[in-house]
Amino acid sequence: MRQHVNPLSKHFIDINPIPPLHEVFENPKLPLHMDVGCASGDFLFELALKNNNWNYLGIEIREKLVLNAKFKLKNKEYKNLYFSFGNANNIFYHSKNKHLFDSITSISFNFPDPWFKKKHHKRRVIQAKFIEFLANSMKKRSLIFIKTDVKDLFDYMDLTISESINFKKLVNEKFLYKDSFNPSKIQTNREKYVLMDQLEVYESIYMKI
Ligand SMILES: C[S@@+](CC[C@H](N)C(=O)[O-])C[C@H]1O[C@@H](n2cnc3c(N)ncnc32)[C@H](O)[C@@H]1O
Repeated sequence: MRQHVNPLSKHFIDINPIPPLHEVFENPKLPLHMDVGCASGDFLFELALKNNNWNYLGIEIREKLVLNAKFKLKNKEYKNLYFSFGNANNIFYHSKNKHLFDSITSISFNFPDPWFKKKHHKRRVIQAKFIEFLANSMKKRSLIFIKTDVKDLFDYMDLTISESINFKKLVNEKFLYKDSFNPSKIQTNREKYVLMDQLEVYESIYMKI
C-alpha cells in the first residue's frame, strides 16, 4: 500500500509553471481537459490516443509517477498530452498558469485521496477556497467531473461544489458523454479496481454558469 503524500508539505509550495500551450501541444486551440491526481497517467495515455480532437493535461503530486509518465511520453508520438508535477491547488493558483483558463473545457477529480480523519480533511484537494477560485477562473459552460467510491468523500465534494452559486449540478443521465473529454467512458485504474470489487462508484458533473 502506497504512502499518501501530504499536499500541504512545504516541499510542494514551489512549482514549475506549465509552459505556454503552443509549446506543449501540437494544436493549442483544441479544448483542454485537466485530470487532477492522474497517478501513472494510464487513463490520459488512453484518452489522448483515442481522442485527438482534445488536449489532455495531467497533474500529479508524486514526482516519480510524473517522471515516468514524461519518459513514456518521449518515446511515443503523443501530440496532445502533457504532465505536470505538484500540488494541484498550487499549480492552479500560480499566476503564471492563468493562461490555462483560456483553454480549460473540463477538469476531472477521479478518486481523489479521501483523507478519512477529520483533522486531515484540509489535505483534500477539493476545498471551498479552491472551488471559489475555479468558479472565478473557469470559462462559462466548462465542467467539473468528480468520481469516488467513498460516499463520505463524495458528499463532501458535492456539498463543497454545490455551495458555490457559480456551479450548476448536471443530472448525470442527461449528460451526453459523447461530446465530452471521455466519449468512450474509459475507466481510470482505480475505477477498474473498484468495479472489479463490485464497490459503488459515486459521480457528478457540474457546469460553470
Ligand atoms: C487514489 S489515487 C487515484 C488515481 C487516479 N485518478 C485513478 O482514478 O486511478 C489519487 C491520486 O491523486 C494524487 N494526489 C493527491 N493529492 C493531490 C494533489 N493535491 N495534487 C495532485 N495530485 C494529488 C495522489 O498522489 C494519487 O496519485
